[in-house]
Amino acid sequence: MDIIIEKVCSDEELKEVAELADEIWHECFPGIISEAQIDYMVEIFQSYRAMKSQVEEQGYSYLAVRDGGELCGYIGIKPENDDRFFLSKLYLRKDKRGHGIASEMLKRVFSEARSAGKSSVYLTVNKHNDQAIAVYKKTGFTVAELIVTDIGSGFVMDDYVMEYKL
Ligand SMILES: CC(C)(COP(=O)(O)OP(=O)(O)OC[C@H]1O[C@@H](n2cnc3c(N)ncnc32)[C@H](O)[C@@H]1OP(=O)(O)O)[C@@H](O)C(=O)NCCC(=O)NCCS
Repeated sequence: MDIIIEKVCSDEELKEVAELADEIWHECFPGIISEAQIDYMVEIFQSYRAMKSQVEEQGYSYLAVRDGGELCGYIGIKPENDDRFFLSKLYLRKDKRGHGIASEMLKRVFSEARSAGKSSVYLTVNKHNDQAIAVYKKTGFTVAELIVTDIGSGFVMDDYVMEYKL
């Protein structure tokens, strides 16, 4: 493994991340949410157009995770106006899971959060996403809240809010 995590700086890289997001979301979420909801969420949160707006207008950054130069995962982050740092996305292609890469990704998130002067990192995770929840708990995140968010078109996100104290 030759893992490099770098900020996404160009439109071309962001388009590459959008393609990977489409692939990963359609692989990992069946059984947790419906195909219709996956299509909808990819379009409103992870399409190139959506991510471009998040980066340019909403304070988000994306980090590309490459193994030997090949894109295999991505991270979405956003510093909040208070003392919290939002881990918006943490996604790794299936064939790269189980090798500790997510631990490296999370270390990078904590480092970015500390550099931004924040005292905690929070995220939302679907209540039925058992593997991600296990990884977050093992890393030291705890459940802070249960939330149901209406995302339009008849869909809701049924999530835990999890928090990590830096
Ligand atoms: C969530 C995700 C990024 C985790 O990646 P991963 O490759 O499975 O995680 P890692 O192998 O790096 O494991 C991270 C740590 O958790 C531990 N771990 C992994 N699975 C575990 C489990 N089921 N129970 C307890 N600990 C676990 C690992 O041992 C590792 O700790 P270590 O580095 O101290 O050894 C990956 O599963 C993924 O992309 N899933 C699909 C997308 C997704 O659901 N993203 C999250 C949306 S909120």
